[in-house]
Amino acid sequence: MASHWESFYSTHLPPTDFEDNRKLLQEFCERHNRNNERIVLVTSGGTTVPLEHNTVRFVDNFSAGTRGAASAEYFLEHGYVTIFMHRLKSLEPFTRHFNGQKFMDMLDLHERGPNTSITVKPDSVDVLAPILASYKAAQDNGKILYVSFTTVSDYFWLLRAACECLAQFGPKALLYLAAAVSDFYVPANQMPMHKIQSGGAAPNIQLQLVPKLLAPLVSLWVPHAFVVSFKLETDENLLITKGRDALNKYKHKLVIGNILQTRRTRVVFVTPDNNYELVMGREQVLSGMEIEEIIVSNVVANHLDYIKIQKF
Ligand code: PMT
Repeated sequence: MASHWESFYSTHLPPTDFEDNRKLLQEFCERHNRNNERIVLVTSGGTTVPLEHNTVRFVDNFSAGTRGAASAEYFLEHGYVTIFMHRLKSLEPFTRHFNGQKFMDMLDLHERGPNTSITVKPDSVDVLAPILASYKAAQDNGKILYVSFTTVSDYFWLLRAACECLAQFGPKALLYLAAAVSDFYVPANQMPMHKIQSGGAAPNIQLQLVPKLLAPLVSLWVPHAFVVSFKLETDENLLITKGRDALNKYKHKLVIGNILQTRRTRVVFVTPDNNYELVMGREQVLSGMEIEEIIVSNVVANHLDYIKIQKF
């Protein structure tokens, strides 16, 4: 009998841009594996669950993609080539610093007819320059690939395709699964084709459990990679227990637990041997430091230790 995750693939079609993304992933991975580089797949942002095939309504997830977008920048700083697999229109590395009107406010417009020009305000140069330099370094050297998903089904197809390309890196591949993936969905064969009508009785929508992809990912797709999953909870009492349960069940390398309200200043690392907290001090918060810088340094240290003891 097909497993739960296999039947998901057999009953949900790949997204229309799937083949294009698969080619991009293949080309990116082959190029960097030839150079013997370390690679990270960062998943980021939340998936949606459509309620209709011609989708007007969908169930969404709170994640803005801050964790993933910030972490991708720090992985690049640590010399990783990076696949940034994110929810379309969620935060992205580098541009995340200039959200909303921030970017416009950094510019001056000099209207001189055909000689109109735009300059960066002198007091914004110090802010923009280092971010632009990092962006250009990543972009010009082909160190980052962006691929995007919207629905949970898109995410499934893209994640498996990325893993198929990452397998060749063996232990040099790091998977950093920070996306907030829907736990419940409406299967494609139970979804109405057209917009659910609001006249008459309120609709009764039956959700089903989404299969956990960590199981095939760890045991079949990238068995030699260093896999890190995240666990979000709102009840502190569950955090470590749920993290340890996941580690025991899927047998990957690390779970990073976080509580919704404190996720920007505190996380808990649950490893096969122990648990430890990473907490931002007041000084660090005031200095504008981001917890992702600390998380990524710790993950990288764990990954390097892991590479050393692997024979691949
Ligand atoms: O984006 P931000 O606003 O910065 O928020 C960051 C975050 C809180 C979303 C992030 O730090 C985080 O905790 N992400 C994981 C959220 C979560 O608990 O996901 P989950 O319980 O659905 O899944 C747990 C793990 O299993 C995840 O690593 C996920 O990649 C994996 N999973 C989930 C669903 C699924 N079908 N298959 C999976 O393998």
